[in-house]
Amino acid sequence: MKSSNRATTRVWDLPTRLFHWLFAAAVIGAIVTVKVGGTWMDWHPIFGVTALVLLTFRVIWGFTGSRYARFSSFVKGPKTVWHYVRHQEERSSPGHSPLGGLSVVALLLVVAVQAGTGLFATDDILTSGPLNQFVSSDTAALLTSIHKWNENVLFGLIGLHLVAIAIYALRGKQLVPPMITGNVLSENLPSDAVAARDTVDLKIWALVLILVLGGLGWWLVSLANSAPMGF
Ligand code: HEM
Ligand code: HEM
Repeated sequence: MKSSNRATTRVWDLPTRLFHWLFAAAVIGAIVTVKVGGTWMDWHPIFGVTALVLLTFRVIWGFTGSRYARFSSFVKGPKTVWHYVRHQEERSSPGHSPLGGLSVVALLLVVAVQAGTGLFATDDILTSGPLNQFVSSDTAALLTSIHKWNENVLFGLIGLHLVAIAIYALRGKQLVPPMITGNVLSENLPSDAVAARDTVDLKIWALVLILVLGGLGWWLVSLANSAPMGF
């Protein structure tokens, strides 16, 4: 039996990891349901609102989560990003790199626009976002066209996200396993690297947060079901 005793350092807390995979699933679910169409379209707003709930969770987590999940640890100015692009360090520090941080912010912003405009969108036949009933038809048409157009930006960024991860893997830096296990081999980190505190308290806070936000999401979805027919 082979066992590995190599020391590891916790980088991603459990809520961040769960967020990532559920968020990816919700965004992909929203894309697949709209592309397959038919009755699958009934699930589109549910996946979309789920993505919005998770995104809101991630924004709050960016201020209250563990060390490397915080925006302050990975949102850097243009100078730092440029410096990183030009001289990538051999033994990089844990967490998102300055360039990775930029892509995280971009992904979150683009999904925010997508899901936010979706709340007001309508196909003028069967499916409307829950807040569509509260805006004029001109506003709804504008937000629907942004919702459709932004699809291209979203696809581009997801493509870039996956290509970047593949390039790092080809160059010997595996980013996917840490997003699953939460850990990085300590020998690949600088000797003074500090582990993230993935504590029970933090997990309870994450659970409370997601239950409250999930409740709000549920209420949002139910608004669409109670909307009067717009004929
Ligand atoms: C990450 C989240 C979302 C993604 C990736 C997404 C993606 C898309 C895409 C690509 C379309 C265009 C379909 C086409 O014409 O080919 C679409 C349409 C639509 N989406 Fe979303 N959406 C999201 C969230 C939402 C949310 C939260 C709602 C409402 C609660 C929503 C409601 C709609 C509606 C009503 C349409 C129909 C517009 C039309 O066909 O004229 N979407 N969505
Ligand atoms: C199934 C394919 C996917 C894989 C293998 C994957 C993998 C990863 C990995 C390895 C990271 C960490 C990067 C780093 O160490 O800096 C990451 C971060 C991230 N990914 Fe993905 N990803 C996938 C799909 C998606 C999708 C569809 C989205 C949504 C648009 C997404 C959004 C994000 C975000 C927002 C982060 C930052 C995580 C955080 O700090 O909370 N990913 N992804």
